[in-house]
Amino acid sequence: LTRSMQAQQVRAPRAFGRSAIAPRRATVVVRASAGTSPKINTQQLKSAYEELKTYIQSKYCNPIIVRLAWHDSGTYDASIKEWPQRGGANAAIRLQPESGHAANKGLNIAMNLLKPIKAKYPEVSYADLFQMASAAAVEAAGGPKIPMRYGRRDVETSDQCAKEGNLPAAAHPFPDGSVSPAEHLRKVFYRMGLNDQEIVALSGGHTLGRARPDRSGHGVEKTKYTEKGPGTPGGQSWTADWLVFNNSYFTEIKEKKDKELLVLPTDACLFEDDKFRPYADKYASDQAAFFKDYAEAHAKLSELGVQWVEGGPVTF
Ligand code: HEM
Repeated sequence: LTRSMQAQQVRAPRAFGRSAIAPRRATVVVRASAGTSPKINTQQLKSAYEELKTYIQSKYCNPIIVRLAWHDSGTYDASIKEWPQRGGANAAIRLQPESGHAANKGLNIAMNLLKPIKAKYPEVSYADLFQMASAAAVEAAGGPKIPMRYGRRDVETSDQCAKEGNLPAAAHPFPDGSVSPAEHLRKVFYRMGLNDQEIVALSGGHTLGRARPDRSGHGVEKTKYTEKGPGTPGGQSWTADWLVFNNSYFTEIKEKKDKELLVLPTDACLFEDDKFRPYADKYASDQAAFFKDYAEAHAKLSELGVQWVEGGPVTF
């Protein structure tokens, strides 16, 4: 996600939750009889979800929260069977070294915003909290209700973090040697077990938010749509109304008329690649179709690599 992962000097943000230097724990056995095993508290899940919708709207932080959840789950490698080596939505992003990966620059802001919610609902795991907050952020911004399930187990130690480089880059040079953005997207998302339709639908997440040169190396310092905020001013958005979840990402990328708006190579390729284009065209002309496919793909993304604790998964 950065223009040049190597070139960037990333100061590691403080780890969220258990510190990176915490002593190693013995393997946790997830059984109710283990005494210390995590439990699912449906009442806390429900209350946290309702509170998150209002809280996230009041902070204008919907985009960065969605990105946090996606960067936790997007490390998943479907070819690895063992948890947590396979990566995915296990809250490893809150621990060093993963929190300091170049692709995660800025996401400590999102984790700090969620601290009061975690303090109030301690029985909601971090992994559930990140994914739940993202679903709440989409719904609160006017997007679809995501069919979420809960009961994700958290990793606890630094050695359980994913290796660096599993998330997609937005432009050349692609670290996996791909010659085109479409090839790169397929390599990364197929590794996660996702298909072409899901790649296009999930890219629609960029209907929210901005890119900032000082974080990812992409976008411009400010545009007429971002110079006044809300939230921290600046950056370049993909859409004019970047706090509203709708299908404008697809209509804007298709037309490419507004020079103030961002189009990354990995965005543009959705209308250039023969297999991506039919989905991108459909989502540009039919918001209901986009919402339906997005909701399903988002739910799937939120469960990548998950190990459910005893009693999970649950819905409410
Ligand atoms: C398809 C491959 C993807 C690439 C190459 C990509 C790349 C990027 C880049 C470069 C940024 C700017 C980050 C910054 O400067 O702070 C960004 C932001 C963002 N991305 Fe993606 N992304 C991809 C997929 C996704 C997916 C699947 C989602 C969610 C479903 C998503 C959601 C977001 C959001 C909401 C932001 C805005 C964050 C903010 O405003 O703070 N992206 N992405």
